[in-house]
Amino acid sequence: MNRKMPADFFWGNSVSSMQTEGAWDVEGKGLSVYDVRPATEITMDWHDAIDEYHPYDEDLDLMQALHMNMYRIQISWSRVNPEGDGEFNKAGIAFYDRLVDAMLARGITPMICLYHFDMPLALAKRENGFMSRHTVAAFVRFGQKIIDHFADRVKYWITFNEHNLYFNDEVFQISGYTQGERSLDDMYTIFHHTMLAHAQIDAYIHEHYADVKIGGMLAYAATYPATAKPNDVFYTRKLDEFLNNNLNDAYTNGHYSHEVLTYIEQQGINADMQDADTAILAKMHADFLAFSYYRTDTLNADKIPAGTPPNRYLNFANEKNRFLDSNEWDWTIDPLGFRNVIASIYARYQIPVFPIENGIGLRENWDGQHMIMDDQRIDYHEAHIKAMKDAMFIDGAQVLGYLGWGLIDIPSSHADMEKRYGMVYVNRSNHDLKDLKRVPKKSFYWFQKVLEKNGDEL
Ligand code: BG6
Repeated sequence: MNRKMPADFFWGNSVSSMQTEGAWDVEGKGLSVYDVRPATEITMDWHDAIDEYHPYDEDLDLMQALHMNMYRIQISWSRVNPEGDGEFNKAGIAFYDRLVDAMLARGITPMICLYHFDMPLALAKRENGFMSRHTVAAFVRFGQKIIDHFADRVKYWITFNEHNLYFNDEVFQISGYTQGERSLDDMYTIFHHTMLAHAQIDAYIHEHYADVKIGGMLAYAATYPATAKPNDVFYTRKLDEFLNNNLNDAYTNGHYSHEVLTYIEQQGINADMQDADTAILAKMHADFLAFSYYRTDTLNADKIPAGTPPNRYLNFANEKNRFLDSNEWDWTIDPLGFRNVIASIYARYQIPVFPIENGIGLRENWDGQHMIMDDQRIDYHEAHIKAMKDAMFIDGAQVLGYLGWGLIDIPSSHADMEKRYGMVYVNRSNHDLKDLKRVPKKSFYWFQKVLEKNGDEL
């Protein structure tokens, strides 16, 4: 069977600003909600991350040495617009100019994400983040400015990282929400507001730049029923409809799932849906569907209290899957799940699919001398790339590329260097910045060989 990878396939790395850049208070950057989170005994603060703001050339050289041809970065809203809705900061934009130009000089295609949980603090405090339509307007203004500035050099865009997390209880951590009861009304309102923001950015790109692409981006909550009991199967399907299909339908067809709209109406949820919004949503037209994938979940419907909204099923129902191994943080290792996600998105929507985060978190400490032998990471990526190729060559899915998450170590989302995803070690711990030295692990050399052959030998 021919399993030759497309010549223009993207292989790369993916990060967020606050987990990578550091430089939290330089050159006019404003505060984001992350900048004011203090360190604790077991976690770090967000001031330095891996300080890529400074040695970005070195990191890009490592990516180039890996034969990567894409780097997904985020443009930090508070770096380029300190108040979120005020004056733009020229020095902040100039940093991203340098970074993007340095990528292009190395043959690395940039992808830009516009929001990865780090609301400008001013908007969080004054507007309660995305609860407010003022924040939506400010985000669209920020997005349009950045698109106008970079569209000549950056052709791949996403708006909200893991957009479906805005449709479960995570939303209250990631949307700049500072006041309220964490009600279902608030969850649905914020979610709808972010979708309106995405739709306006999507329309802006398509109206102004014929060669620029934008896609949706989900944390693909691939969930199995715990048993063949109809209840487990039914609840699992409903969860999928709310947390995955609802968004992918919106990105591609311009309207929410009928099942979700029916639920909103029957429950009398106030999601701040206004008449004029329908036409805004209808403009959506994704060029690709992107997602992060790390693991699968398993749902036991018996554990879900009666009347629980589908958005909250997994707060109660998640169960250990005895057929899968896990890492130390109980994240399952499930490459077939990855294939299944790719194949099912493509089968349903028939537009290119793009896994832009994948990887395994491991605890690693460098002794200052020897190479870190991360065979478990090699096995993880090898199995997932093979599974992706099965989705492409057996199931017929069109896939644009494969980006690993944090392939140069960055702190985990819980502000913790103990959980690392990198193929390159970064020498710092939670409370000691050390020298931030970059040290390739065994997986670096493995991946280099894989990419040298464009993945054809897997
Ligand atoms: C995704 C996020 O959920 O997964 C990242 O986009 C995050 O911000 C990554 O770091 C891995 O999760 P974690 O919690 O292991 O860092």
